[in-house]
Amino acid sequence: MELLAFVFYYITPYIAVVVFFGGLAYRVYRWWKKPPVAAHLSLFPRPQSRLGRLLDTLVDMFTLKGLFRVNKPLWLGGFIMHLGLLFVLVGHIRAFTDFYFLWKLLGWGKEEQYLFSAIAGTTAGTLFTIPLFYLLARRLSGAVKWLSVPEDFFALILLISIALTGFHMRLLHHVEVEELHRFFAGLASFRWQPPPTSTGSSFIYHFAFAQLLMVYFPFSKFTHTIGSVLSKMVARS
Ligand code: HEM
Repeated sequence: MELLAFVFYYITPYIAVVVFFGGLAYRVYRWWKKPPVAAHLSLFPRPQSRLGRLLDTLVDMFTLKGLFRVNKPLWLGGFIMHLGLLFVLVGHIRAFTDFYFLWKLLGWGKEEQYLFSAIAGTTAGTLFTIPLFYLLARRLSGAVKWLSVPEDFFALILLISIALTGFHMRLLHHVEVEELHRFFAGLASFRWQPPPTSTGSSFIYHFAFAQLLMVYFPFSKFTHTIGSVLSKMVARS
């Protein structure tokens, strides 16, 4: 078990980073190299000007308005989940560095920073996690059940596992961000430092699941992060 933890702390993080960025670059390269289709794929009505089309794509991307038109409950679940994820990821910057400038500007000390992080992190995590259970329940019933493949369940269960192990740290431990900074600076400089202890035992599971997500991401439906922007632009071309 200790050997496994060592591997997930100090070996696989490098593999995850290489596979994530290399895999995404490879996927985009493969799309780029595909011969263009002969027909126009424009969907009408579409804005006339190029700027208008770009703005329309961005509005669609940030509001999921296409989905809103066809399925409102799914839109609500998807929108809140993505919004929560965005906030969670912004908050995670604190695992690697800190918002030093912001704290200085607000004149906040350690106590205030911790309180703010606890409230904002718990809120963001809740916005992210509750819709994940709705999205899972949706796949377990009705017509969607018959259209779902194991990959759909794997993706949701992986995200829920990351969220629950994150919440375990958030709600049951007082995480010292300095410990995380030291650990990640050690990984980045290849001068390995001891793993954080204030996070409790769930950190290794959270970290390992996040690495699994990074390795899986470029070869899965998660590539819609990039693909949906490109396809929306094609549809308005
Ligand atoms: C290297 C990657 C990651 C590290 C080192 C990491 C670290 C952490 C830590 C230390 C906490 C507890 C925060 C605290 O109590 O102060 C946490 C919470 C959490 N993490 Fe992560 N995490 C990573 C990736 C992710 C990813 C990819 C997701 C989502 C897909 C995620 C979702 C969450 C959630 C939902 C929480 C609980 C709510 C919150 O504190 O925001 N984490 N994470």
